[in-house]
Amino acid sequence: MISRRMLFQISGAAALAGAGGTAWMYFGGHNVNAAGTQPISPYPFDPIRAENFQQKLFIPGGSGPFGVMDVGGPLQIRATAASFAILKGQESPFLLYQTEQAGKAYQNPIFRMESGARFQATLHNALPEPTIIHWHGLHTPANMDGHPASTIGPGGRYDYNFTVRNRGGTYWYHTHAHELTAKQAYNGLASFFLVEDEDQRKLSKALDLRLGETDVPLVIQDKQFDAAGRLRYQPNMQDAMMGWLGDVILANLTPNAVLTVTPRVYRFRLLNGSNARIYRLAFVKGKTPLKFAVIGTDGGLLDQPQSVTDAYLAPGERLDVLFDAGQAQPGEDVFLKSLAFDPMENEGSAGNMGNMGSSGGMGGMGGMGGMGGMGGMSSSRLPLGAEFNVLKLPVTQGERLTMPLPAKLSEIRTIPVEGMPERKIELSMAHMRFLINGRSFRMDEISFEVKRGGVEIWSISNPALGMPHPMHMHGFSFQVVERLNSPPQVSANARFGRGRTVSDLGWKDTVLVWPGETVKIAVDFTHDFTGSQTYLLHCHNLEHEDAGMMVNFRVTT
Ligand code: C2O
Ligand code: CU
Ligand code: CU
Repeated sequence: MISRRMLFQISGAAALAGAGGTAWMYFGGHNVNAAGTQPISPYPFDPIRAENFQQKLFIPGGSGPFGVMDVGGPLQIRATAASFAILKGQESPFLLYQTEQAGKAYQNPIFRMESGARFQATLHNALPEPTIIHWHGLHTPANMDGHPASTIGPGGRYDYNFTVRNRGGTYWYHTHAHELTAKQAYNGLASFFLVEDEDQRKLSKALDLRLGETDVPLVIQDKQFDAAGRLRYQPNMQDAMMGWLGDVILANLTPNAVLTVTPRVYRFRLLNGSNARIYRLAFVKGKTPLKFAVIGTDGGLLDQPQSVTDAYLAPGERLDVLFDAGQAQPGEDVFLKSLAFDPMENEGSAGNMGNMGSSGGMGGMGGMGGMGGMGGMSSSRLPLGAEFNVLKLPVTQGERLTMPLPAKLSEIRTIPVEGMPERKIELSMAHMRFLINGRSFRMDEISFEVKRGGVEIWSISNPALGMPHPMHMHGFSFQVVERLNSPPQVSANARFGRGRTVSDLGWKDTVLVWPGETVKIAVDFTHDFTGSQTYLLHCHNLEHEDAGMMVNFRVTT
């Protein structure tokens, strides 16, 4: 690691030589906060300290906040400003989707629908700024997708009406307002969209999984709070460049969350709903990561369960996992943690400022060491890649239930890639912006066209000089074909052929591309919508997305 960073340090310096003072701000990176590369611990709700974990995990019920709603008829959804007590006793301004059905009120409902059913809703914008809803992972016509071009102003409305064509799985929905996605999603505009099918029901039956009890949707987010318990979102230049990191970790909006479990299997539908933070998730007892089975990813169940001890989860991605709490004894605690990893978000940087100052010939750079320690630092006390707890799972007395995992969960049709055309998608950075194929987002610009019904391989490459980007495609699920030139912390877990990790299996809509990597994905552009369709490809680091790390592509007829 050290030698790699040293190497890029030199190329970084070379790249910077002509870049002028502002570029330096980016190369300071999150790694440089007031504590250097270390978390600033302790502080209130500090997730590193296990003893802080005392608050009961919020579990969605049948109505109210995040209530599970079996969508019946057409819905009226209001995007509105409200408040929500996230920290005990302190109301925090919050943005919500409000709706009702059969006399019950819901805020940010967890929609649940059968595959093949029709979804109908009207979004009403009761916010003082533009907004729109995007159905993340759902295969809809472009005009139902919540493209930023569909954004409605204050008081506006948008009618959604589409068939839920996806297979069973854990999808989600969130705002996609042009250049406001990061702020609005951070302040609350996001929730789950669960799709049911026969495979899902079979699994629930085989393992006695009940939604809200032994089957737990779990959205993981990192936030910052001010002294009054209000959400804080004030990216400085560094945060805007690298993505906003929080230092309080919320599981279902609960800080320092606790879920008491009995010695049996639990399903966690994990969603990374953070703006920019990547998690390396593990169930840990003492210092030992326990086994868990990954049974699904973004687009539903895998063909078979895969046993692992840790997995990366990048913003936008989902991981459906089974954890047998019977691996611990009653009285013991297990923690769902994010393990330490190399954030690689600073590749090409000096890593520390002193070196740059002494590398000579950098003119104004001499004073930059000071900026790195002040203006150029992340505002989060919890750096990317730090180890911390997400959820405490105390194991209590209970009947030891052991049920064999089904050997086969579902059928995954492999997209035939032999002889299919390859398209290069190159990520880069220039003038303080991350780019896709050299371009920054323009609403009316179509970056490239693909043929309806065709299969393409997209070869997404991330330069060694840069940071990880979770790349997300609208409109279609894809399959990860191959990972090339991965950093050691990724290749160490690449047990699934062609460099792939467990997070790459099955149907995907978001894939993490680390610095220096090339990730090849296969997409089948078959659809039954009328006319040509325009969708987005973007980075799901929401600050990157809002800053234009996004392109349109058109599926031609
Ligand atoms: Cu979840 Cu275009 O995003
Ligand atoms: Cu999406
Ligand atoms: Cu990015």
